[in-house]
Amino acid sequence: MQPAQLLAALAPGEPLSGAALAAQTGVTRAAIWKQIEALRTRGVPIEARGAAGYRLPWPLQMLDAGQIRAALPAPLVRSLGALEVHWELDSTSSELQRRGAQAADFSVLLAETQTAGRGRRGREWLSPPGLNLYLSCLKRFEQGFAALAGLSLAIGVIVLRALEDLGIAGAGLKWPNDLLAVAEPPQGGKLGGILVELSGEYQGPCAAVVGIGLNLRLTTALREQAGQPACDLATLTGGTPPDRNRVAAALIAALINGLRQFERDGFAGFTADYERHDLLRDQPLQLSGALGAFNGTGAGVDARGALRVRMADGSLRLVDSADVTVRRA
Ligand code: BTN
Repeated sequence: MQPAQLLAALAPGEPLSGAALAAQTGVTRAAIWKQIEALRTRGVPIEARGAAGYRLPWPLQMLDAGQIRAALPAPLVRSLGALEVHWELDSTSSELQRRGAQAADFSVLLAETQTAGRGRRGREWLSPPGLNLYLSCLKRFEQGFAALAGLSLAIGVIVLRALEDLGIAGAGLKWPNDLLAVAEPPQGGKLGGILVELSGEYQGPCAAVVGIGLNLRLTTALREQAGQPACDLATLTGGTPPDRNRVAAALIAALINGLRQFERDGFAGFTADYERHDLLRDQPLQLSGALGAFNGTGAGVDARGALRVRMADGSLRLVDSADVTVRRA
């Protein structure tokens, strides 16, 4: 039995005994137990309920390309390049980059789990199976790298538009591209992250692989492993996040429409929305990066997506790359 099959069997949330699972799949109970342990090690909270057997604490939906397509408006389905759902990839973004020239525009890869999920600045992105979303999308641009300034901030706005379409409020943006739940921890924290990687000619044409990780369900253990306050859509929706395939479809729809808008208007088309969701505005900030460490106050972003920081003497400093934290009084 493959781990994907086992997770699919447990997905409805009903208890299933080791014996029933073994009979269903023709493998031994010992083999089932080994796979249960393997899924638990990857972060899936499978409970053991005595004689009743194994169960998940809530139902989950396995990702399904057919269901994602069915939830997309027809014109957007026609715009898609590939739409692939994998059980496991090292990283959806790495795989899309390896496809290189063979991948059509708006090719989308999703994986139930990533073995080497990548975050910004070489950090790891935890990718337990079945709980969250890991998605990458390829978009080519005739323009060069300079015209794509602000793209990763625009993607933040695009993800928020997808959440809005799903009726989910309570998320905002932390420069450069973190998606945060607005409440203070333990309720608030990082809801998702965005990694935009460019390749091609500096003067154009070039291609962007947009990678999005969105937390739908985090367990206490995963929150601890995250190394920073983390949050999930379940918290924002009172306990039950929307169907994972619906969330994937909403993200893909917002990406296709939003990337087309960016191609036409650049970051200028997103600045008003970014401003509305900017969680660093007027906040006391601590910044650290190549330029050293300094404090200031968030004052929005400029037309290229650089962070504007008001210094103590009233001057404005533009920051292209740094780690930012909000100073607590
Ligand atoms: C960050 O906040 O550090 C960015 C995280 C980006 C994670 C996503 S998950 C899908 C895609 N594949 C990866 O390996 N990374 C991105």
